[in-house]
Amino acid sequence: MGVAVPDTYVELADLAMARGVAPGKYVDGLGVTRMGVPLVDEDTVTLAARAARMALESAHCSPDDIGLLVVGTETAVDHSKPVASYVQGLLGLSTRCRIFETKHACYGGTAALQMALDWVRSGSAKGRKALIVCSDIARYGVGTPGEPTQGAGAVAMLVSDHPALVVLEAGKTGVYSKDVMDFWRPLYSKDALVDGHYSVECYLAALEGAYRAYQEAAGDAGGEGAYSDRFAALVYHVPYGKMSRKAHRHLRTLDGDAAPDASFDRLVGHSLVMPSQVGNIYTGSMYLALASLLSSAPEDLTGKRVGLFSYGSGSCAEFFSGVVQDGAQARVKALGLEARLARRRALSIPEYEDVMRAREHLDERPAADAAGSGFRYQGTRDHKRIYAT
Ligand code: CAA
Repeated sequence: MGVAVPDTYVELADLAMARGVAPGKYVDGLGVTRMGVPLVDEDTVTLAARAARMALESAHCSPDDIGLLVVGTETAVDHSKPVASYVQGLLGLSTRCRIFETKHACYGGTAALQMALDWVRSGSAKGRKALIVCSDIARYGVGTPGEPTQGAGAVAMLVSDHPALVVLEAGKTGVYSKDVMDFWRPLYSKDALVDGHYSVECYLAALEGAYRAYQEAAGDAGGEGAYSDRFAALVYHVPYGKMSRKAHRHLRTLDGDAAPDASFDRLVGHSLVMPSQVGNIYTGSMYLALASLLSSAPEDLTGKRVGLFSYGSGSCAEFFSGVVQDGAQARVKALGLEARLARRRALSIPEYEDVMRAREHLDERPAADAAGSGFRYQGTRDHKRIYAT
């Protein structure tokens, strides 16, 4: 696994004060402390490439071992050329690699992951690995209710028949999909549009449908106690921390738990440590929460089952599960994600608003002459995006 977040962020308490809102509404009411805000040399491609490089390095995996690269995103940089092709170029992946991009709001990365699992299980991988990257920059209009639920980041995952972190369980998955208009981004808009409170209802309805479908697929629904106590942890899609709390309350109520909040800290709390520092990263959000769980849970999760709920507006959702492998927590800790988050620089609100304005024209920005390094977006030349390697 690899994770990339912008080097800069906005403190939600500062944003609340600038918007004339009580800081408690954003920090406690939404459950977000900071949100990642990328500067103009960062885009969906650079975040994806940085996360992918970390995943390859951490697994000591050669680019030639990758036979499938899929980038799930809802904030792509081109209507035709996939983010995945840029990532292939930046990472130097083999030409014998199937490469494309998937889209279904925040579910796009999970769609890619599930397909990669089938590719590995079918034998088509022939010993090679799939590289799945979820990369997005969440953007709502300045001053809108969605503004405090922005964020940016990417999570990359290697999928193989010898998983080092989590064995995703074959057949144990439940899907729910329904055509709804809860969150969308028209082709002419940089900002997402959302029917906020309705989107929360859609999320919860999808959770219920996917969870019921999972129970039917996995069996054992009539056993003793709350069904979700079969999981050592539950990782929900996290547009903002409070949504995970609402999700957990709903799921435990479905389980017949008369005190549905009582298990929240135990089953969900550790997955929210990093999301509360980064904000919504759309496709990667649930996987950042998984990284957070593996990195910060004090107990040994080896051999224990984790429930995962992915939700994409529009909508498609999936509840699935995996078993944590020996050494997984140490491997994720070794990525040093907390230290990376601590090294970021805070933007003042005027700086953030300048960045938001500048990002509106990023796609037409002339490429800077100065050569940078480390997967940075430099602008465009002859309508082609230029990246520093
Ligand atoms: N101190 C503490 N808490 C406070 C407070 C204060 N001073 N003032 C208000 N609050 C609480 C409220 O009680 C509320 O809590 P509950 O939800 O538990 O009741 C919380 O703060 C938020 O207050 P509001 O509901 O009044 O906030 P809002 O209407 O301004 O906006 C929102 C909330 C609808 C989530 C908005 O931020 C939004 O539209 N966000 C984007 C959409 C989104 O993330 N939807 C999630 C489901 S869809 C999805 O998951 C896909 C995706 O990634 C987008």
